[in-house]
Amino acid sequence: MRSPESPRSLAARYSGGPKHAMAQRRLPWLPFGVLGIVAALAVVGIIFTSGVLNHGPVEADRVTPTSTPSVAPTVESPAPMDAATLRRSFALTPPMGWNSWNQVGCAGLNEQVVKNAADAMVARGLQAVGYQYIVIDDCYQSGRDADGNLIVDPARFPSGMAAVAKYVHDKGLKFGIYAVPGSQTCANYFDRYPVKGIGSLGHEQQDVDLFVSWGIDYLKYDWCRADINDGLSEQAAFGQMNDILLATGRPIVYSISEYGEQEPWVWAPGIANLWRTTHDIHENWPSILQHINLQVPVTSFATPGAWNDPDMLHIGNGDISVNETITHFGIWCMLAAPLFTGTDLSALPESTISLLTNPELIEIDQDTKGVEATQVRNAGGAQVWSRPLADGSFAVALFNTSSATKTITASLAEVGIPQAKYTVRDVINRAPVGSTTTGISGSVAAHGLSMVRVTPLSAEDQRRGL
Ligand code: GLA
Repeated sequence: MRSPESPRSLAARYSGGPKHAMAQRRLPWLPFGVLGIVAALAVVGIIFTSGVLNHGPVEADRVTPTSTPSVAPTVESPAPMDAATLRRSFALTPPMGWNSWNQVGCAGLNEQVVKNAADAMVARGLQAVGYQYIVIDDCYQSGRDADGNLIVDPARFPSGMAAVAKYVHDKGLKFGIYAVPGSQTCANYFDRYPVKGIGSLGHEQQDVDLFVSWGIDYLKYDWCRADINDGLSEQAAFGQMNDILLATGRPIVYSISEYGEQEPWVWAPGIANLWRTTHDIHENWPSILQHINLQVPVTSFATPGAWNDPDMLHIGNGDISVNETITHFGIWCMLAAPLFTGTDLSALPESTISLLTNPELIEIDQDTKGVEATQVRNAGGAQVWSRPLADGSFAVALFNTSSATKTITASLAEVGIPQAKYTVRDVINRAPVGSTTTGISGSVAAHGLSMVRVTPLSAEDQRRGL
């Protein structure tokens, strides 16, 4: 969401600057150092308690000849987790939460909006189904003090950020914040946010120390033309912040955003938990459709702990019909996308809350196999997507991109499901559909989605005539 006085095209926002060759990122040494120390201490502890080190010096004349020789029991010291595995471990399924940007943008951000989001997250049942991060995006900053410490805008956040973080934590939720590697945030650049010098360039460690003092659990680190403005390169800058975050010892989920410009799906796994694949989503159907189509070439790159991020949800905002809203959420679940709402949750109608909290859709989004759906067809106004799930079942989506109702049919072979007998369940309406040995078919509304879970029938099921 942007303030109306600053309309601009996406192309104008992000094009025109020099592109950097992808620099080889140095290995993150800090986590190895820290983990090495931890592992070494653990080994010392194990040896100590197993009695090797606490005997003191053994004097020859005190050794009795009757003692039975023995060897210390073999103790397997735990292998230290490498930095990439540690990074992944902080978000083994796609993170879920709320972010201020799509709701209030820059101009409307303040602490009451954030507290209200936390309240509604709990009260309206989103926390109960897995939404947990409350993330404050750009425009909470009002400068730096003489020592370079970031100042939180006292007008927008009169209680201070530590108090807001505590409010969020006291509800059993997690707290996230926004920063950028360069000198200017995107709001400086695109929303005429007047406070300068609030980027983390030259203050990376200092800013993380401050964020950790608030108890952050999530960092969104947004590129915002740091190449053009500051001469930075993506991999080096995002890698540096990953090293600093890992060295804090806190399991801080790390979201990076460079809009898919430098193919982050290739180099960001193991460095960040999620990376944006596109420029910003907007609250209208063409933007949502464009974001869906832009995922097609990259779906194979997501793995547990390392997620493609097609940008945050615009559910509840703008001019999006009921069917388009269902498609937006359903396809995001097919894509194993991070699920960040960005709307006033307290004002949503119950039907939209039911969609956002649909446990069968969320189960698909959060499936532990972590394989994104593949688009197997895009023709004649019909898209077909298929995704294998951890329990051996499949999620299949029939998506009507046309402006009239359409029957879409897909065979098991087309969606990559081995020939057998399956039960089919409508996961949007949460109802059984029947069983099949051939495929699935549905009458799908314009811009709408039919989404099913296809589960192999066991021999026992088949004996019972299912
Ligand atoms: C960029 C990001 C958005 C948001 C804004 C904040 O546009 O892509 O998600 O964080 O910056 O200024």
